[in-house]
Amino acid sequence: MYTHEDLARLQSQSLKMQSWIRQQTFSPENTKTLRRFSSWEVAELIFRINQSTFRGRLAAEPDLPGGEVEPDGRQRWFSLDEINALRRKMKINRKSLMPPRPAGKRAFRAAVANFKGGAGKSTVALHLAHAAALDGYRVLLVDFDPQATLSHSMGLTDVAEDYTVWGIMARDLIRETDRMNAATTGAASGTALPRRQIPASIRDLGLGELRHSDFIKPTAWSTIDIVPSCANAAFVEFASAQYRHLNPEWSFFAAVSRYLDGLGDDDYDLILFDCPPAIGYQSMNAVFAADMLYIPSGPGYWEYDSTTSFIGQLAEALEDLSGFGPTFPAGKVTLPKAFADIRFLMTRYEPGNDLHRAMFEAFRKVFGAHVAEHPIEMTRAVEQSGRFLSSVYEIDYREMTRETWRRARASFDRAYDEFKGSVIAAWDKI
Ligand SMILES: Nc1ncnc2c1ncn2[C@@H]1O[C@H](COP(=O)(O)OP(=O)(O)OP(=O)(O)O)[C@@H](O)[C@H]1O
Ligand SMILES: [Mg+2]
Repeated sequence: MYTHEDLARLQSQSLKMQSWIRQQTFSPENTKTLRRFSSWEVAELIFRINQSTFRGRLAAEPDLPGGEVEPDGRQRWFSLDEINALRRKMKINRKSLMPPRPAGKRAFRAAVANFKGGAGKSTVALHLAHAAALDGYRVLLVDFDPQATLSHSMGLTDVAEDYTVWGIMARDLIRETDRMNAATTGAASGTALPRRQIPASIRDLGLGELRHSDFIKPTAWSTIDIVPSCANAAFVEFASAQYRHLNPEWSFFAAVSRYLDGLGDDDYDLILFDCPPAIGYQSMNAVFAADMLYIPSGPGYWEYDSTTSFIGQLAEALEDLSGFGPTFPAGKVTLPKAFADIRFLMTRYEPGNDLHRAMFEAFRKVFGAHVAEHPIEMTRAVEQSGRFLSSVYEIDYREMTRETWRRARASFDRAYDEFKGSVIAAWDKI
């Protein structure tokens, strides 16, 4: 017979292995660093200009950052900060290299969501974030999944649950309850709400005192920040049920949305959510805060089945929310939840596989124009990177077969270009 003590023992063994794997996969001091990008990559893949045009400009304008020359080669290698400086300073045929962003709008929020496990959510979120950062956007990631795949991939392995979505929700409960109680006290009429008490056990955690920026961590990518997650944040699913009971008027599903509303409009361009493979308090917060849903799905028949049930469950959950609390005090929350766009993206697609092609056609027949035209292809580059916790953008092309790397990168680039098009079209609607 086995008890929780046996489980705890197994877990401690596993933790030892985990830190060994991390030592093997991250640089010696156990922190992730971002590589430099070659002048070939910067010109042709990032700025999408001719290499000789790029080299000519660097030679003609000594004020531009020149990168570093590696001992073994002729190429120059640029850091992300240097690439961004080049992007700001250089114009090609009088055209700016800065990515488009509508004036006067807050950052656009996209949720990568599917309740199906292993659909490719974290891989898609990671690659879209890296592609967007290389495209010049400032990105905030929010990891809603206590599996914390995305946080680990971004190099954050030592996260306290206070600084996760769980912390944001607990802080929101305290603040919203205080706000409602103050409104009750202030109201002259007898129709006011009952006062709600938050027990000392929650208040004394001190989460109400956390500042906005306390939840946001920098990463090895200077233009990508993250609200990370950790295994202990799984607790949110238990805690939230209790929290709702403490204050039934609390719009628990809008906690993260309210948190993000508190950011400056210009702090970021793009906010990307990685969701857990389950319906729950965290995934509902992600969906509710999102302007656009991006739904990855594998190419198998059973994956089509689970994607279908995902949208069914989501529809039901959102319908439930739409009737939330008649006594709910007016805030920034608008119901029912409306998305500026909903997109489906096939992942792990093999163009030579008849079943995959048939499933892609089926997706298109059913979901029509909502289906992204460019599926993400199955690639060894990503399988390998799963072990190394890196995106194809982070992997130095000299470390693998150039053709494998280029094909993988081209597939993610096409998916990103299409994603960007959807974002820009949807941005105007918010
Ligand atoms: N395009 C791809 N080519 C090859 N392997 C892939 C690809 N996309 C994802 N994978 C692999 O599939 C597995 C699941 O991917 P991922 O972790 O992104 O899914 P997920 O939906 O986030 O999973 P979970 O539901 O557990 O959060 C990983 O091992 C990943 O490396
Ligand atoms: Mg995941």
